[in-house]
Amino acid sequence: MKREATASSVSLIQLTADAADDAAIEEVDAVATAAFEVPQFSAREELRRPWTRCWVAREGRRALAFLIAWHVADELHVLNIATCPTARRRGLATALMSLSLEYARQQQVRLLLLEVRRSNRAAIRLYRKLGFTAMGVRPRYYSDNDEDAVEMVLTLDPATGAVQPGRDEIRIEV
Ligand SMILES: CC(C)(COP(=O)(O)OP(=O)(O)OC[C@H]1O[C@@H](n2cnc3c(N)ncnc32)[C@H](O)[C@@H]1OP(=O)(O)O)[C@@H](O)C(=O)NCCC(=O)NCCS
Repeated sequence: MKREATASSVSLIQLTADAADDAAIEEVDAVATAAFEVPQFSAREELRRPWTRCWVAREGRRALAFLIAWHVADELHVLNIATCPTARRRGLATALMSLSLEYARQQQVRLLLLEVRRSNRAAIRLYRKLGFTAMGVRPRYYSDNDEDAVEMVLTLDPATGAVQPGRDEIRIEV
């Protein structure tokens, strides 16, 4: 478990498969249960995959937010990000996304990718603030309600880590 210092009482850590302790993994699942009606993944299963990366925002031993991504070749695919309902609008998701971007730069990642429900304005706004643009739609991607997914992308210059300017390829309302 790698620790990152923050100015507030919240600490940002990276959970790794070999060092992650059971309590920390259960905390991630607890955030997922609080954030989604039906959590779509198990943190324990995810962390078994060698390409999974997981960052967590904690206050004391309690997880408040997490981000799970897959790092494959020169791409980082953000699979899931969530903040406990009681800890929202405190910048935690932004802090975790920034940490994943920092990691991406260190690893010479070229593309950050994600899918988001078309109706998820909060998440789309979060991603837009960081420079993601909408590159396409996957019709009826979410099987629970047949909702479309918006595919979003952020391109980094692998040499400098600078965010490359992009523009939306599709129109989305936010
Ligand atoms: C989306 C989510 C992760 C944001 O977490 P958060 O920690 O509250 O986000 P931040 O405080 O870092 O907010 C960053 C920006 O996102 C946008 N945002 C976040 N919540 C928002 C809301 N309810 N309405 C509108 N914009 C919102 C804002 O632009 C915000 O910046 P601001 O506070 O300066 O206006 C959180 O709402 C969540 O867990 N939602 C349920 C799970 C989910 O939908 N995950 C995304 C899956 S793709």
